[in-house]
Amino acid sequence: MEVKTILKNLIKCKSPQELIDEGTNSGLKKTLNAFDLIILGIGAVVGTGIFTIIGSAIVGSADGPGAGSAIVISMILAAIASVFSALSYSEIASMIPVAGSAYTYTYATMGEFMAWMVGWILMLEYAIGNITVASAWTGYFVQFLKGFKHILPAFIVNCPLWLRNDYRTMYEICNKYGWNVHDKMPFLQLPFGIEIPFAINIPAIAIVLVLTILLIKGIKESTKVATIMVGVNMFIILSFIVVGSFYVKPENWVPFAPNGIEGIFTGAFVIFFAYIGFDAVSTAAEETKNPQKDLPIAIMGTLTICTILYVCAALVLTGVIPLNAIDTQAPLAHAMRYLNINWYAGLISVGALCALTSVLLIYQLGTTRILFAMSRDSFLPKSLNVIHEKYKTPHVMTWLSGIIVIICALFMDLNLSAELCNFGTFTSFIIICIAVLILRKTEPNRERPFKVPFCPWFPILGILTCLALMYCKFSAKATSALYFIVWLVIGVVIYAAYSYKSKRLEEEGNN
Ligand code: ALA
Repeated sequence: MEVKTILKNLIKCKSPQELIDEGTNSGLKKTLNAFDLIILGIGAVVGTGIFTIIGSAIVGSADGPGAGSAIVISMILAAIASVFSALSYSEIASMIPVAGSAYTYTYATMGEFMAWMVGWILMLEYAIGNITVASAWTGYFVQFLKGFKHILPAFIVNCPLWLRNDYRTMYEICNKYGWNVHDKMPFLQLPFGIEIPFAINIPAIAIVLVLTILLIKGIKESTKVATIMVGVNMFIILSFIVVGSFYVKPENWVPFAPNGIEGIFTGAFVIFFAYIGFDAVSTAAEETKNPQKDLPIAIMGTLTICTILYVCAALVLTGVIPLNAIDTQAPLAHAMRYLNINWYAGLISVGALCALTSVLLIYQLGTTRILFAMSRDSFLPKSLNVIHEKYKTPHVMTWLSGIIVIICALFMDLNLSAELCNFGTFTSFIIICIAVLILRKTEPNRERPFKVPFCPWFPILGILTCLALMYCKFSAKATSALYFIVWLVIGVVIYAAYSYKSKRLEEEGNN
C-alpha cells in the first residue's frame, strides 16, 4: 500500500490550467513582446559556440575527431535536432505560457518525479552552461586587455594564470607546456599531507556577479542591455561573413570531410552547444505580454536566423584559412589575423565579449526562472521564492543561481561544462518531444495557438536525433557522460531526501 501511494505521488501531474493560473498570479511584470523575445533568444544562442567552440568542432580535440569543412553538415544536423524540439517547445509554450520551460511542461505530462528530474537536468543546461560561457568570456577579455598593453599596468595585462583559470585548465596548460604545476599555482596544505590546487577565474566570477546585480534590478532593463549586445555581435558576425567572403579560396574546402562520418557526428555533438538557448525564450513566458502568439514566433525566428548565420560563418572560416591553421581559442579573430587584418581581429574580440555577455545574462535569467518555478512547487524551500518589493524580480533566486555558477566554476573547465550542458539539453529536448505526444492524447481539445506539423513524426524524429548524438558521446566513454550519470544520481537523492517530503507537507497544508 505504502509503495502504491509513493508511486502514485511520483506520477502526480499538474493540470495545464493549474499551471496557467499560477503563472497569471505570479507577481512577475509582463513587459516583453516578440521582438524582446527574439533578442533574448539570439542573445542566448549566439555566443561561445560560434566564437570559440567552432574551432574544436572543425579541428577536433583529445576527445574526438573534428568535422573539417564538413562542419556545415554537422551544423545542419545539430540544427535538425534543435528544430524538431523547437517546434515542440513552441506548441507547448503557446499552450502553457508559464515560467520554468521543460520543467513546467514535464509537470503537466509526466508527473512530479520526472518534473523534478527535468528541473535538475535543466540546471546543467543553464547553470553549468554558464560556466562554459564565463570561461570563454575570460579568454576574450584577456585578449582584449592585451590590446591595451601600452596603457594598462603589466600585472593586469599579464596577470598570473591561476587568477584567470580553473584548476583543471591549469593542469592542462601545465601538461601542454611541460611546466611543473607547483610552480604555476598555489596549493592549500591540509593535514595528512593532503594538498588542494588553488586556481580561481577572477574575470569569470566578476562578470557573473555584475550580471546577477543587473538581473535583480529588472528584466526589462536587462533585455535593454541584451539588445545593445545582440546588435553589436550580429554586426560583427555579418561583417565577418561579408569581409571574409572576399578571401575565400575554394581549395581550402578540400578535403571536405577529413574524418568522415565520425568527424561529422562528433562535430555535431560539439557544435550543438552553439544552438542551445532558444528554449530560454520560453522561460520568460510569464513576463510576456502575448505569449500565445509571441513565443512560437520568437523560438522559430531565433533558430532560423542563427542557423543561417552559423552556416555562412563556417563556410567563410573554413574557406579563408587552411584546416591545420584554424585556432581553437578564438578562431574567427585568428582567421582575420591570418589574413593580416589585425584591427578587425580586435573588433571581433569586442563582438565576442558582447555575445558572451548576453548569453551569460540570459542563462542566468533562465536558471533563476527555473529555480523560481521549482520552489513555487515546493521542490525547493519556499523561502527562496521571494519577489523583490521594488524591482519585482526573484532576487533571492537570482543570487542563488549566481552563487551556484561561481562555486561550480572553481571545479569545471570549458570543455567539460560544455559537454555536460549538451547532455542536459539533449535530455530536456527529448522530454519536450515526449510531452507533446502525451499532451496530444491527454488534452486533445485544449487550444493550441501553434501546432507541431506532421505530429507524431516530427517529435519522434526529434527524440531519435537527440538520442543518436548522445549515444555518440556515451559510446566514446567521455568523462562528461560519467558526470552526467553522477548528476542524475544526485538529483534522485535530493528528491528522496527533501523534495518528496516537502511536497507531501505542502499537500497536507492545502488539505
Ligand atoms: N548557444 C550558446 C553559446 O553558444 C550557449 O554560447
